[in-house]
Amino acid sequence: MTTITDRPFEGRTQKILATLKDAGQLKHLQTIEGPMGPTVKLRGYGEVACFCSNNYMGLANHPEVVEAGIEGLRRYGAGTASVRFICGTFECHETLEAKIAEFYGCEAAYSFTSCWNANEAIFPTLCEPGDLIISDELNHASIIDGVRLAGVIKKGLHKGVFKHADLGDLRTKLEAARANVQVTGAIWVVTDGVFSMEGDIGDLPGLRAVCDEFGALLVVDDSHGTGVMGLTGRGTHEHWGMDATKVDYFTGTLGKALGGAAGGYVVGSRKAIDLLIQRGRPTLFSNALPATVACSAQKAIEILMREPQRVQKLRDNVAYARSMIREAGFQVLESPTAICPIIVHDTAKAIAMSKRLLELGVFVIGFGFPVVPEGHARLRCQVSAAHEKQHLDAFGEALRKLRKEFR
Ligand SMILES: Cc1ncc(COP(=O)(O)O)c(C=O)c1O
Repeated sequence: MTTITDRPFEGRTQKILATLKDAGQLKHLQTIEGPMGPTVKLRGYGEVACFCSNNYMGLANHPEVVEAGIEGLRRYGAGTASVRFICGTFECHETLEAKIAEFYGCEAAYSFTSCWNANEAIFPTLCEPGDLIISDELNHASIIDGVRLAGVIKKGLHKGVFKHADLGDLRTKLEAARANVQVTGAIWVVTDGVFSMEGDIGDLPGLRAVCDEFGALLVVDDSHGTGVMGLTGRGTHEHWGMDATKVDYFTGTLGKALGGAAGGYVVGSRKAIDLLIQRGRPTLFSNALPATVACSAQKAIEILMREPQRVQKLRDNVAYARSMIREAGFQVLESPTAICPIIVHDTAKAIAMSKRLLELGVFVIGFGFPVVPEGHARLRCQVSAAHEKQHLDAFGEALRKLRKEFR
């Protein structure tokens, strides 16, 4: 009798997993036994300082954020049991979306169950055949897949990639598009605000200027910039002293600085949001954001608007953590963002180093292929406003020990 493991697919899967294991590239899911904070209780390791979460503002376990979620659960129950356009739009979705639009200073916002979904909604819905989408080569996977999907759904949509942060290359591509008689519609330029793996910042003023030269729309996914960048944490545009309306559309997540639970959104013109409500497949065919999450996220945004000093604390922590990394003898990709990557090139080495850091009481994940290109493996250290000096010092001490062991 043939068993399940005899099937060709099972054998193939087994082989791929074995190859990853042999190459030292197998990821191990670490289980946390309590809330997300500056330290976490990690199964098998106990309490460790957490330097790999996106809890940039330290709001994931803020008492008011937790209470708002509990209150939402009591008031609305566990979920909508529906997509938004049937019977899944609760009052808390409307108030959350109004709060997001207010936070950005833009006309309208619409929520999704993730930013991944937001990116898979915006391009296939708003773009049409004859349009061109040009995307930075290091944009997040959800943008890449959203653009790919748009190309499949809208036949005759043109796609292109420009070299990372290279305005000259973007201009060359746009000049070629101008000469291409098949590009008859809108041109969309897409960038991350803060690049998730490098921690560098998109040159939004430069991109805006190029977009204006070619009549293009600018879309910014500011998942890692929202709540972090600019004096009041409004995002990467604020860092550059730009009004949010200079960006045509933002996408972003509620799963990082804005409470850390889950959810994403698109921010922009009322008309575009209306079209997303009418035609966006992730919202037409998938359930709404759970009410408890919507309530928590709204509270997180309120706290951030009320306490902009949190942004300064994060900035101070980032400067201190970056000095610790350099002092330990590692090179960190320079930028003022909370993402501090230490490039170690080899995936197996990155994983081994992150394992050693855990033994030293510091939780940092090693990233390798396919999350980053082959040969670009790294330890991605992330800093939070929730970190206090003792956490940052523990981080520095562990790095110094690590450096001695992995010269
Ligand atoms: C730039 C960027 N966009 C989108 C996402 C996806 O966000 P979500 O977890 O809300 O789907 C991420 C998450 O890592 C991200 O870094």
